Amino acid sequence: DMGGHDTYMHKEIHEQADAVDRVLRGRIDDRFSTVHLGGLNLDAREARQIRRVKILGCGTSYHAGMIGAQMIEELARIPADAEPASEFRYRNAVVDPDTLYIAVSQSGETYDVLAAVQELKRKGARVLGVVNVVGSAIAREADGGVYVHAGPEVCVVSTKCFTNTTVAFALLALHLGRTRDLSVRDGKRIIEGLRKLPEQINEILKQEEEIKELAEAYAEARSMLFIGRVRGYPVAREASLKLKEVSYIHAEAYPASELKHGPLALIEPALPTVAIVPDDDLLEKNRAALEEIKARSGKILAVAHQHQEKADQTVIVPKNEDELDPILMGIPLQLLAYHTAKALGRDIDKPRNLAKSVTVE
Ligand code: F6R
Repeated sequence: DMGGHDTYMHKEIHEQADAVDRVLRGRIDDRFSTVHLGGLNLDAREARQIRRVKILGCGTSYHAGMIGAQMIEELARIPADAEPASEFRYRNAVVDPDTLYIAVSQSGETYDVLAAVQELKRKGARVLGVVNVVGSAIAREADGGVYVHAGPEVCVVSTKCFTNTTVAFALLALHLGRTRDLSVRDGKRIIEGLRKLPEQINEILKQEEEIKELAEAYAEARSMLFIGRVRGYPVAREASLKLKEVSYIHAEAYPASELKHGPLALIEPALPTVAIVPDDDLLEKNRAALEEIKARSGKILAVAHQHQEKADQTVIVPKNEDELDPILMGIPLQLLAYHTAKALGRDIDKPRNLAKSVTVE
């Protein structure tokens, strides 16, 4: 039942405020400015002994994991990174007992992720799952974890589960942080930010009409470039994937600072750039990148917290805490992908050549 929406993708994009409400529900502990994650199976002593965090996933879940790694590193000050599960599996990685491994998966059935978890367990590593489908293979195989509670996701491309996974990572990062050196004050700040998310998501979704108009203009592009820096980079990666999947327009994501090392050669009016421009300590750096693109007659759509003079259009996203900004900044770009695909008459819920869960190698 699509409840009045024309596709599951559209329905699921619009379910995100409720979905985020669900992932937060019952987990916030105001007394200690932390969160409780019932299924983690990681006591405080163990949490303090973690020396590194390695996050594994595929596709959109990998991108959510990139955001999660940044949150864990920022809030818990544990070195963390994400890697595609398939790459990790095939490179005979060093498995280290002081590393916490985290497998991310909407379906909980993705073969490359499951195989990576099994290989890690066989070598005695501790593996947590950040999974949406309760009781799925990866959830069962993991030593513990955090359920994402996005609810069923029917559209082949992931939207609400991506958002909820990034929120689940914020909870995990806050929990690890407050078990280690994150102050009560910062804990409070993050909790206040988390509580604002559902309302801010609805504020973004109210701009759908304007985003639709932009999408109809961009639907003519043969290719698009997505750029971001640090917190904005995984957002750019995910937005680029979403556009490719549903519209079949070629898209490429680049760290903004890497432009001058090659991709600037591509900039011309026919290659539009989508830039993620949060109001954080990198704002001026990002503005400089917009200027470089503008100087070469490139078209720019900015997703930002305030109007960007160098951009042709700016979609304004409400500001949250710096660490939580990536949760929101991709949401207008889900709508951009959806409306671009719609303008092109694509089969949005079932893009060609794709399956909802990839249970083969
Ligand atoms: C993107 C998409 C895929 C999945 C990937 C992992 O919209 O749907 O990239 O994210 O196949 O799937 P899960 O999260 O089920 O492991």
